Amino acid sequence: MNENNPNEPLRGALIGCGFFARNQLHAWQDLTGVALVAVCDRELERAERFGREFGIPGIFSDVEAMFAQCPLDFVDIAAPTPAHAALVEAAAHHGVDIICQKPFAGSLETARRLINLCEARGVSLTIHENFRWQHAIRDVVRLVDKGEIGRPFFGRVSYRSGFDVFANQPYLAELPRFIIQDLGIHVLDIARALFGDVAHLSCETDRINPAIKGEDTATIMLRHDAGTTCVVDCSYATTLAEDPFPQSLIEIDGASGSLRLGRDFVLERHRPGGGKERRDLTPDWPAWSEQPWSVIQESVVNLQRDWAECRRAGRAAATHGADNFNTLSLVEAAYRSAETGQTVVPQRWR
Ligand SMILES: NC(=O)c1ccc[n+]([C@@H]2O[C@H](COP(=O)([O-])OP(=O)(O)OC[C@H]3O[C@@H](n4cnc5c(N)ncnc54)[C@H](O)[C@@H]3O)[C@@H](O)[C@H]2O)c1
Repeated sequence: MNENNPNEPLRGALIGCGFFARNQLHAWQDLTGVALVAVCDRELERAERFGREFGIPGIFSDVEAMFAQCPLDFVDIAAPTPAHAALVEAAAHHGVDIICQKPFAGSLETARRLINLCEARGVSLTIHENFRWQHAIRDVVRLVDKGEIGRPFFGRVSYRSGFDVFANQPYLAELPRFIIQDLGIHVLDIARALFGDVAHLSCETDRINPAIKGEDTATIMLRHDAGTTCVVDCSYATTLAEDPFPQSLIEIDGASGSLRLGRDFVLERHRPGGGKERRDLTPDWPAWSEQPWSVIQESVVNLQRDWAECRRAGRAAATHGADNFNTLSLVEAAYRSAETGQTVVPQRWR
C-alpha cells in the first residue's frame, strides 16, 4: 500500500464512464480527503462528458497514457467485468491501489491470479460490493453480530422485482449467466455478511423472460459454517403492484428472537414472549440520489467512505479481494449446482 501525506487528498481516477460510474463519482464528491483527478473511458467522449459534468481535469481514453501523466493513489474501476483483469494488472503494475466493480473476475482462476498479483505488488485490491453497505442491512448485521436474537438458525435474503433493468443496462439481456452473476452476487454477499462463510449450497434457476439469454430467477439454499440455513432468492420476473426494487428483504429466526427487514426499510424485531418493536431504518439519502435508486446510491457513499478511512488507516477494507473471492465462489457454486442438480462445496480463498 502506498504511503500518503495525511494532509493531502487521495488522488484517484475513475475508469469506465458508463451507467453505474456516475454514482461513484457523486459519492467521491461527497467525501472529504479524496480528489478525483482523472477519468478514463475507451470511448473518449464518455470521459469528456464526465470530466465536464464533475469538473475533473484529466480526461483519457487509454489507461497507460493516464498512468504516465497522472500521479495516482488509486483507481476506481467501473468498466464491465471482461475488462477488469487487464485494468487491475495495469494498476498493480504501476503500484496504484485498486477498487474494482463486481464481479471482479470472470472466473475463480482469474480472481486468484489478480489477488496474488496485487499482494505481490503491494497494492490493495477492494471490490465495490456495496449491498452490504446499505444502511438498513448494516443495522441488521450489527444486531445479529451482537447476539441480539441469539444464534441465527434460519435466514432468507430476498430480492424479487419486475423492474426493467435492461433499459439502463441492455448488455444484461445478452449475458448467458444473468441474475446470479449480476444481482445474486450482491444478495449472496449479504448472506455472508450476516451468517459468515458457506459450507455447501444448492441452487435452482429458471428463465421466465423469453427476450433474454440468461436465467432471471434463482433460488439458492446455503448451509453456513456456523450452522445457519439461509435461502437467497432473486427474481427479475416477479409481477408486483408495489415493486420493492431495488430493496433486499431479510428474515432471520434466532434462538431468542426474530428480525424482519421489510419494504421501505421497516425493521421488526420479535421478542420471545410475544413483544414486537418496529423501527424505520430509512437513512438520509445523498442529495444527488434519485428514487428508486437511493438505497443503492447511499450504499456507494458508505462503501467509498469506509474504503478511504481504511486506506488512511493502512488496513484492508471489508470487501477486500480475498474476502470477495468467497462471495464470487458462491456464484460459481450456484451455477454448478443448477447445472448438475447437486449440492456443491464452494471454493475458499486459500
Ligand atoms: N454495484 C452495483 O450496484 C452495480 C450496479 C450496476 C453495475 N455494476 C457493475 O459496474 C460495472 C459497469 O457496469 P455498467 O452498467 O456501468 O456498464 P456500462 O456498459 O454502462 O459502462 C461501462 C463503461 O466502461 C467503458 N469501458 C469498457 N472497457 C474499458 C476499458 N478497457 N477501459 C476504459 N473504459 C472501458 C465502456 O466504454 C463504458 O463506458 C460492471 O462490472 C457491473 O457489474 C455494479
